[in-house]
Amino acid sequence: MISAQTTERFAREVAKYPADQAQSAVMACLAIVQQEQGFVSPESEAAVAAYLGMPVIAVHEVTTFYNMYNQQPVGRYKINVCTNLPCQLRAGQQALEHLCEKLGVDEGGTSADGLFTVQQCECLGACADAPVLLVNDRQMCSFMDEARLDDLVDTLRKA
Ligand code: FES
Repeated sequence: MISAQTTERFAREVAKYPADQAQSAVMACLAIVQQEQGFVSPESEAAVAAYLGMPVIAVHEVTTFYNMYNQQPVGRYKINVCTNLPCQLRAGQQALEHLCEKLGVDEGGTSADGLFTVQQCECLGACADAPVLLVNDRQMCSFMDEARLDDLVDTLRKA
């Protein structure tokens, strides 16, 4: 399940903490798993738990608390649209619905071509730029009205 290369990466993360605090590296190890496999499966959680010497449920609690961890495979582009109150007051929900309609998916779903997964998310810390979304947990996009959403989808499709 976990390759030697992955284990080496885990070890580098664990080495950042005191010897008896290996579980402090749990978030980093889960991020490595997701980077390599695209999502964190229950089997991966069990492998991380075994590696760090912690209960599987404790690893699962981390995976499910932070929505940047994917618990199932996602499309090439995961788009998280903020639907917290400040964004809601500036058309965040409409942005989410427009994106879902344009891509033919329900919230949380992946488009038939496997390119896009659309999810709602909590505050991204850029409320003044609402509505806001995040692409692949890295690229923040601001002021996402329908025209900008359409441009984003077109740009990502061509990428
Ligand atoms: S509420 Fe959307 S970024 Fe803060």
